[in-house]
Amino acid sequence: VSLSELDREWLLHAASLAGRGWGRVHPNPMVGCVLTRDGERVGEGWHEEYGGPHAEVNAIRSAGDTTRGATAYVSLEPCSHHGQTPPCSESLLKAGVARVVFGASEPGDETGGGGELLAQAGVEVVGPATDVRTFHEVDPAFFYTTRYQRPYLALKLAVSLDGRIAARAGERTPLTDDDANREVHRLRSGFDAVLVGGETARVDDPLLTVRYGLDPRILPTRIVLDPSAVLSPDASLFSTDSEAPVLIFATEAASVERVETLKDVGAQVEIVPQADGRADLKEMLKRCWGLGIRSVFCEGGGRLATALTREELVQRLYLFKAPLTLGPQGVLGFGSGDSTPEDLGWSSIGEPTQFGPDLLLKYDREADVSRG
Ligand SMILES: NC(=O)c1ccc[n+]([C@@H]2O[C@H](COP(=O)([O-])OP(=O)(O)OC[C@H]3O[C@@H](n4cnc5c(N)ncnc54)[C@H](OP(=O)(O)O)[C@@H]3O)[C@@H](O)[C@H]2O)c1
Repeated sequence: VSLSELDREWLLHAASLAGRGWGRVHPNPMVGCVLTRDGERVGEGWHEEYGGPHAEVNAIRSAGDTTRGATAYVSLEPCSHHGQTPPCSESLLKAGVARVVFGASEPGDETGGGGELLAQAGVEVVGPATDVRTFHEVDPAFFYTTRYQRPYLALKLAVSLDGRIAARAGERTPLTDDDANREVHRLRSGFDAVLVGGETARVDDPLLTVRYGLDPRILPTRIVLDPSAVLSPDASLFSTDSEAPVLIFATEAASVERVETLKDVGAQVEIVPQADGRADLKEMLKRCWGLGIRSVFCEGGGRLATALTREELVQRLYLFKAPLTLGPQGVLGFGSGDSTPEDLGWSSIGEPTQFGPDLLLKYDREADVSRG
């Protein structure tokens, strides 16, 4: 349904509250709720902790005794099922809410139907919003995994103005400043796993942990695609105190000795088949799903990024643009260097965000966007 300007404004505020659950509630959805009476906000809340009270309940609590006759704006249709907490639709009824406006429908049969239940009880229910994409954008992994039962994959790259991700092949090239790096760690905290290619693991020797004082509920599994299992057992990945598991995907090309060496330093090693002589990326993601990994944050390098995007396995692109050029000898992120993400079938979402001198641009896959 199309919404009035005022309804839309409050609903967008509810969606921004939802985002505060990042890193604390997945694989459950991030949800935000605002309560208004006579056009004034009387309460608001969001789903703060996995297993904790839902957004509607937190909003009702914050409103005290002013909920009777209120309008509730919820980014996601209120639930109607008894899970770890009682259904939100019942809580809204008990609180005497007269009107409910929601952004996206609750996907899946098991949990849906809160809107219908409220309407049957005499509450005016408005939703889902016509521009449902806006409400999916806040928590796309939740909607994607409910629909497809395969991991949601986001690709993050730091690129120069001329689209390069490193000054030369085999060279570590820090491109972004501290503010952008902190945002990368915040993004990591909202995913079940962080993935890099074997060459990146070798050249950059990253830790792939969440730092900057952030506290994710799920420590992202650190995944390396290392087809021949040539990663050094002395790599920093294995030398941290971090309890985040290390998972190596190798192929039959890896010798038993190399696989054992990596297992000895604490890695879980999964052997995936090859397709056209390369590691089968679809199979890798299928294995991730089987291991309970619902969302993956890939941080390069260029060859892995290119292969994943070419096979249409990436749903979201986070591009941090650093204000420098690296020249033609630099390593390309993906595409030819001149092509923009739009040329490659990506659709820009939200406003670009400045982090210190760097600019974050976000894109979703055109195909996913048009499906809504
Ligand atoms: N600026 C940034 O955001 C950023 C991020 C990460 C890395 N980097 C830089 O990027 C450089 C490393 O990147 P890179 O491109 O050389 O390597 P990479 O992407 O890190 O590693 C390549 C990996 O992808 C696999 N691969 C390549 N094509 C594939 C395909 N079609 N199907 C399946 N698997 C495939 C390779 O397997 P095979 O072994 O079979 O070839 C290899 O395991 C370093 O200089 C690093 O500093 C920059």
